[in-house]
Amino acid sequence: MARKYVIGGNWKSNGTQASVASLVEMLNGVTVDTDSVEVIVAPPTIYLSTVQASLKQHIRVSAQNVSLTGPGAYTGEIAAEQLKDLGLQWTLTGHSERRALYGETDTIVAQKTKRALDQGLDVIVCVGETLDERKADQTLNVITRQLKAVADLLADDLGLWSRIVVAYEPVWAIGTGVVATPEQAQDAHKNLRAWVASHINPDVALNLRIIYGGSVNAKNSPELIALHDVDGFLVGGASLKPEFVDIIQSAQ
Ligand code: PGA
Repeated sequence: MARKYVIGGNWKSNGTQASVASLVEMLNGVTVDTDSVEVIVAPPTIYLSTVQASLKQHIRVSAQNVSLTGPGAYTGEIAAEQLKDLGLQWTLTGHSERRALYGETDTIVAQKTKRALDQGLDVIVCVGETLDERKADQTLNVITRQLKAVADLLADDLGLWSRIVVAYEPVWAIGTGVVATPEQAQDAHKNLRAWVASHINPDVALNLRIIYGGSVNAKNSPELIALHDVDGFLVGGASLKPEFVDIIQSAQ
């Protein structure tokens, strides 16, 4: 069975009520072939409710982060139960900005991922190496270490992997305009998939969607989407612009 493409838009902490409304209007006008591609947008938390209410069902809504804890006395946190209550299907976990700026370790990311899955959310887990790690030839070590933390918590519950998408996002490519070359992207995705096959399960590896993120735009998306092990994108900056529509089109 062919893997269905995933095109995600990570709006990060951008936008106003007005700009969010115009993005939703733009997205509501897009034709999405939902048999071949899943389009998911992740607005800032404060706009989740309005986007969920105003976006047509051809595009799904994701949180950018989820609490490690359930609802309760955790000031400032949003629990998976509350995201579900809003009708959301998805959350991101482990974005490099959360890892680098908010101290999220591999263990925290894995625990958030497991908790979100247990509460019924599907999860886009982000992994990726820094420039120094790539220069030191540590790319595969880093991204498999990050994914292994998740795998350890899921243990034998292999069914949960069908509700996970892995976003390979080299940190040096995020927001820099320096996109991975097709060779770099294909290599990382292929190696990651091979690692999943040997350390988790071959069927899980075959069906796992591994999407690329880092300076994806309308110009480079056709070449990247054609790569065998690239199953879509997580788009930051370009997801706030009309070219996001072209990126969706490149996958269908
Ligand atoms: P970018 O961000 O497309 O702006 O590089 C990607 C991401 O951080 O998900």
